[in-house]
Amino acid sequence: MIIAQISDTHIALNTPDAAQRMRDFELAIADINGLDPIPDVIVHTGDIVHSGNPDEYARAQAILAKARPPVYVLAGNKDNRANLRNAFAPCGYLASGSDFIAYAIDRFPVRLIALDTLSSRSNKGDFCSERVRHLIDLVDAETTKPIAVFMHHPPFEVTVGPESLHFETANAMTELRRALQYSGRVIGVFSGHVHRATAGHVGCIPATVLACIATTLRKGKYPASMKARPVYHLYRFDPAWGFSTAARIVAGSP
Ligand SMILES: [Fe+2]
Repeated sequence: MIIAQISDTHIALNTPDAAQRMRDFELAIADINGLDPIPDVIVHTGDIVHSGNPDEYARAQAILAKARPPVYVLAGNKDNRANLRNAFAPCGYLASGSDFIAYAIDRFPVRLIALDTLSSRSNKGDFCSERVRHLIDLVDAETTKPIAVFMHHPPFEVTVGPESLHFETANAMTELRRALQYSGRVIGVFSGHVHRATAGHVGCIPATVLACIATTLRKGKYPASMKARPVYHLYRFDPAWGFSTAARIVAGSP
């Protein structure tokens, strides 16, 4: 099984780099479509759009509609839950009945669990007791398969960049980390948000952060030749070894 992760496309309509953001997103999807073997699934780990408005989602949705593998999205701090839900509800996997956008996908050898780490107070992450309970329910709903968890905010101390903690409180992050570890079946945690690639752990679980697809917002040092070349990750699952990660650099803008 191969998972392609994309993140932080920040689609905008009125910023000076709006066209570049759109192009970066399109190039990433076109690159995934051209892979052989084609990934089984694409997961977008949030900040799909920049201002959370319906017109931005319409553009993002049109780009994602061109993807050959099935696509699952979750919410980042720049997303608007209601507008995201409206845009992607026709895809059928966003459960209704809760404010939070969190769900499990059981159709693959590895279960995918998407979490909602949004806070109403800031751009940082939050994980309240209701979300902890829901995560445990999602984990307990199937007990035979390994699990890959996707969330926007990285649930570990990030050692690159100006900030190390991307949750509002240490307690929220601790409760989330405890819930991720308790079953022993979560084998990978995948995030975005910090706009630079890094990695860490949740206990013994490897945790990866993907840089933003939007090249104009990417942090960290890249050679000039990489300026307009988005990077995304491919995770190949092997039942004996777990996940291996490959960074894929797409061709630049024409
Ligand atoms: Fe973010």
